[in-house]
Amino acid sequence: MSSNQAYRLALSKHLDVAESTIFTYWKGRVALYTALKAMGVGSGDEVILPAFTCVVVPNAIMYLGATPVYVDIDKETLCASASAIESKISPKTKCILIQNMLGLSSEVDQIVHLAKKKGIYSIEDCTHGFGGNYKGISNGLHTDCAFYSSQWNKPFSTGIGGILYVKNETLIPVIEQLNNDLQTPSIKNVLVLRILLFARTYLLKNWSYWFLLKLYRKLSALGLVVGSSSKQEIESIHQPEHYFMGLSVVQAKKGVQALKQIDAVLKKRKKNGKTINDWMRNNDKYHLNSGLLPDHSFLKFPALVKNRVLFLKAAENHKIPMGDWFTSPLHPVQGDLSEWKLSVAEFPNALEISAQIVNLPTDLYDMGPLLDFLEKNKNELL
Ligand SMILES: Cc1ncc(COP(=O)(O)O)c(C=O)c1O
Repeated sequence: MSSNQAYRLALSKHLDVAESTIFTYWKGRVALYTALKAMGVGSGDEVILPAFTCVVVPNAIMYLGATPVYVDIDKETLCASASAIESKISPKTKCILIQNMLGLSSEVDQIVHLAKKKGIYSIEDCTHGFGGNYKGISNGLHTDCAFYSSQWNKPFSTGIGGILYVKNETLIPVIEQLNNDLQTPSIKNVLVLRILLFARTYLLKNWSYWFLLKLYRKLSALGLVVGSSSKQEIESIHQPEHYFMGLSVVQAKKGVQALKQIDAVLKKRKKNGKTINDWMRNNDKYHLNSGLLPDHSFLKFPALVKNRVLFLKAAENHKIPMGDWFTSPLHPVQGDLSEWKLSVAEFPNALEISAQIVNLPTDLYDMGPLLDFLEKNKNELL
């Protein structure tokens, strides 16, 4: 059995689906692009998505010549509601993208019902949500297709990597056909990925974390390591040359290994997420609708702060690994988003949340230092 087959088998067992419904890619965004293409999304079509996402999501839509149509999020779920989505459906809508945000999803069943009623495809962006559930069903198993990411900070990591689950079986032969054109990752890319995976496994310790984080950010800004996104993906809507790329053997092997630990990791994230939410609620700070909590595993926990720069600096001084994801409606692009057909003034909730958000870690063994830090900096939280 090849490494990729072994990985697909492990993934299918974890999701409790047939192996033939799982496909693997160099990155999650490539899985999304493939699903959209298999659905026939192209010029003249519209795809509905939340106005609070990663820029590579509208990129995949625009590379196919289609138009992204954004929907504002609800502040207490970080997701777009079914009614807000319904108001954006037009005769041109071909697909609705539901997003699992930091592990949270909301009204998935209602949105899928809406899509079916209107004869529109649905895709769930589960890049943050592998291993979580919505109403007792695994994230990703509700929609026609779902894609997952195994990039550095995701529920499990293969360095970078993407997975596509295809529930709608009519799409499977089309995807198999499309996959014949997948490029093989270059020797250089695979070598750099191997070095980074080695560094993460053997060099990333508590004492070296901050130094290596800064080094990685510098090297990826200079384009010297395989970062999450290339400069071209962040600055333009033009598809990079080697975009449609398959999974490498090194990723597949790492994935099989990482999946062995995922249950324990998810349990910890779920418990820590609840601890943080309880602390936030007890202290009258921004917290999530508790109806959402039981099933979810939190990749990060969102908190809102008065001054993000100062808060992140204070966290760094206390050696708390605080995240700064989604500081723009189309992370990580700042400023004018008109290139992606997003006019920020139309999405006040996404704008407000992205101006104030920081992401708390949920994978710590000891939550004491984080809770102490929150207690000391309580007045900085909203
Ligand atoms: C919400 C969201 N969707 C899609 C992606 C793309 O995943 P990948 O980096 O594996 O392409 C990301 C990346 O982090 C993301 O945050």
